[in-house]
Amino acid sequence: MAILDPWTLDFVSSSEEQTVRLGVRLGELLQPGDVVCLSGELGAGKTALARGVGRGWGTHVRVTSPTFVLVNEYPRLPDGRTLYHLDCYRLEGAGDVYTTGLEDVLAADHAVMIEWPERIAAWLPADHLWVSLEYVSETRRKLHITGVGERAQALVEEFKKSAFGV
Ligand SMILES: Nc1ncnc2c1ncn2[C@@H]1O[C@H](COP(=O)(O)OP(=O)(O)O)[C@@H](O)[C@H]1O
Ligand SMILES: [Mg+2]
Repeated sequence: MAILDPWTLDFVSSSEEQTVRLGVRLGELLQPGDVVCLSGELGAGKTALARGVGRGWGTHVRVTSPTFVLVNEYPRLPDGRTLYHLDCYRLEGAGDVYTTGLEDVLAADHAVMIEWPERIAAWLPADHLWVSLEYVSETRRKLHITGVGERAQALVEEFKKSAFGV
């Protein structure tokens, strides 16, 4: 792990399971209102990380790719708070944000994970976590995590302590 500044983190995951475990750590810290952007090409590991976040959030349903449905919802026990998982790959433009109901999800105070966040850049809240995943080799992925805004920066700091003890 490389420490660039308190709210940035570079890490190379060497297996899908390791990426999932990192996601669990993040999901345990996530609060309603937190937005996690997952950026990277197809197969970069966005959904693998999201699966871990769902587990850490406390949902009992396995997180799968929402590519064809755009939005999946994961309520947790015991409080029923919902984690949303969006995949914006198929969105054409801002108009789709209205017609698909994504606007409502983003406007409310929900925990949200977003794959292909670049597609809805204008709609992202100012405060968000940005995670870039990059293919290195068949089993390795580079993760770059940065907090944008006060809450997201605090989240990265907590995440570093929880996942790496620093
Ligand atoms: N270190 C790693 N982290 C995450 N996924 C990995 C890793 N190494 C190999 N993989 C594989 O890469 C693929 C990632 O798929 P997925 O998470 O659906 O990507 P995306 O959502 O970015 O398209 C899976 O087939 C997974 O097994
Ligand atoms: Mg995916």
